[in-house]
Amino acid sequence: MMPILIIGAGGVGSVVAHKCAMVPEVFGEITLASRTLSKCDAIAAEVKMRTGRTIATAMVDADNAEETAALIRKTGAKLLINVALPYQDLNLMDACLLAGCDYMDTANYEPLDVAKFEYSWQWAYQEKFQTAGLTALLGSGFDPGVTNVFTAWALKHHFDEIHTLDIIDVNGGDHGKAFATNFNPEINIREVTAECRHWEDGTFLGTPPMSKHQPFTCPDGVGTFEIYRMYHEELESLVKHIPTLRRAQFWMSFSPNYLKHLEVLQNVGMTRIDPVLYHGIEIVPLQFLKAVLPNPSDLGQSTKGRTCIGNVITGLKDGTAKAIYIYNICDHEACFAEVGSQAISYTTGVPAMIGAKQILAGDWRKPGVWNIEQHDPDAFMADLNQHGLPWQFIELTPEQAREFQVTTQ
Ligand SMILES: NC(=O)c1ccc[n+]([C@@H]2O[C@H](COP(=O)([O-])OP(=O)(O)OC[C@H]3O[C@@H](n4cnc5c(N)ncnc54)[C@H](OP(=O)(O)O)[C@@H]3O)[C@@H](O)[C@H]2O)c1
Repeated sequence: MMPILIIGAGGVGSVVAHKCAMVPEVFGEITLASRTLSKCDAIAAEVKMRTGRTIATAMVDADNAEETAALIRKTGAKLLINVALPYQDLNLMDACLLAGCDYMDTANYEPLDVAKFEYSWQWAYQEKFQTAGLTALLGSGFDPGVTNVFTAWALKHHFDEIHTLDIIDVNGGDHGKAFATNFNPEINIREVTAECRHWEDGTFLGTPPMSKHQPFTCPDGVGTFEIYRMYHEELESLVKHIPTLRRAQFWMSFSPNYLKHLEVLQNVGMTRIDPVLYHGIEIVPLQFLKAVLPNPSDLGQSTKGRTCIGNVITGLKDGTAKAIYIYNICDHEACFAEVGSQAISYTTGVPAMIGAKQILAGDWRKPGVWNIEQHDPDAFMADLNQHGLPWQFIELTPEQAREFQVTTQ
């Protein structure tokens, strides 16, 4: 039983707090800290109501490494779980180095003033963490996170070489709002409006955002959805760590309604991230937009339907071509019944708890900075089945894999 510190009291932070509280044999004293104390207290009250456990709360500015380090020392935390925003990653890694604490997150660093995310900034901490004898685990959400572990597990158990990887993220849920994002609107909109990049024959190729799309039918009657190719951060680490990959792509479903609203918001300048002067005050349009959109952590009540996120993987086993699809289906209403959150926060928060569990158990505790696919996937895969995200896999013919045909319907 080890003390931990969770930073960030949003949709994902709430799920992490609940799920850690549900595993008392691993997670000792839990402190939930964020910018707004009242949000931490509200989550702590819900955790108490659902699990009977009391968790501590604190206010912290995660952009201030010294202040966070003092909180780490005060709580005696052995691991900091960062589920604040990607802007805080480097300051929180610094705080962990100052206070001698392991680090974990679910999204890679992104500077506030440039809509660009990549691992270089965090990989540059390798030597510092190694020298300090501390562990940093990057990207332990669903994507990145589970999708990386699915790939590592496929390589360990089903392939000698992986050649192509297509990560397909479908949210078949409906929140009943005219427009809302499923996680932090600012991060979400920066991500989906970015240029698309995919890996092909040893290099990343750029294409305009949302320019390539196709229908995808999910298994188990989740439905058929239009999926759009886009850049996603796990592509960068996966092509580095699995060098046999010839092509790697990421796809996400969007409804026509979401795309219509996004186009208008872009056209009128509401997705800009540079400050504009309004009545003598500088405001960033995208940050203002976040303030008026529905809060993703409040969507649980109204969201119905299921998510289906998985990987189509092809390669060679014993000299023969092989293809598989490995996936999880998660029901929004079931997540709400269990922890009071919709499935996007749930599918991120559960793997965050599971990644933390592997570090605290010692199996993934190795000095340095690690992407999740660099670790043995088996215990993590078993924990997914145990803790609310059961997965399945099916063998595909090469033609089915080419067509993303994963059902018999
Ligand atoms: N890998 C995946 O599958 C995946 C999927 C979805 C999301 N994510 C990541 O998960 C993280 C959390 O997402 P979310 O939807 O929960 O976001 P959210 O609802 O906006 O929550 C973010 C939390 O961080 C707090 N925060 C922001 N800046 C802070 C600062 N300087 N000091 C202290 N606290 C600060 C916010 O405080 P306030 O409440 O005061 O604003 C809020 O409580 C994001 O990094 C997102 O990219 C990963």
